[in-house]
Amino acid sequence: MKYQKRFRHFYEKERKYHRAVHEHGRDILESPNFRKTKKFIQHGNMTVNSHCINVAKYSLAISEKLHIPVDKRKLIRGALLHDYFLYDWHDDEHNKFYRLHGLKHPKIALRNASKEYDLSEKEKDIIRKHMWPLTIVPPMCKEAWIVTTADKWCSLMETLKIHKGHGAHK
Ligand SMILES: [Fe+2]
Ligand SMILES: [Fe+2]
Repeated sequence: MKYQKRFRHFYEKERKYHRAVHEHGRDILESPNFRKTKKFIQHGNMTVNSHCINVAKYSLAISEKLHIPVDKRKLIRGALLHDYFLYDWHDDEHNKFYRLHGLKHPKIALRNASKEYDLSEKEKDIIRKHMWPLTIVPPMCKEAWIVTTADKWCSLMETLKIHKGHGAHK
């Protein structure tokens, strides 16, 4: 009974975050370039596409759990676009670039996202600073602090294979 209740609670929260991500990020989720991220692996067998959606949901969960009032729409859209670098960083083609990926991809993601979306300053800050402390300059808004935290948590869970994906759709 206790487990049933816990499972239902977890399922309802997941459904709520899923709805919010689709409500505020539908155009991004349905765009050809965002769909392309289903072909790229982030960590383990998690695609960049699923990773970004998970980071958006965990960002909502963190703001809710810690009672941090946020601009939900900007939080979600920034999280969805934070890894919008649009290449497979494990590919041979990018091998020479491999070590620099961590450092360079926020700028590439921001450049790609700016071409397609009219980004607010908060969304730009989320994308640009999500690799903090690598970026040295810290996030300037609470939404960016939340996304960088959610990103680190999701990346750790993927690397430890606690969060499992379904592999790349080639
Ligand atoms: Fe990233
Ligand atoms: Fe990420």
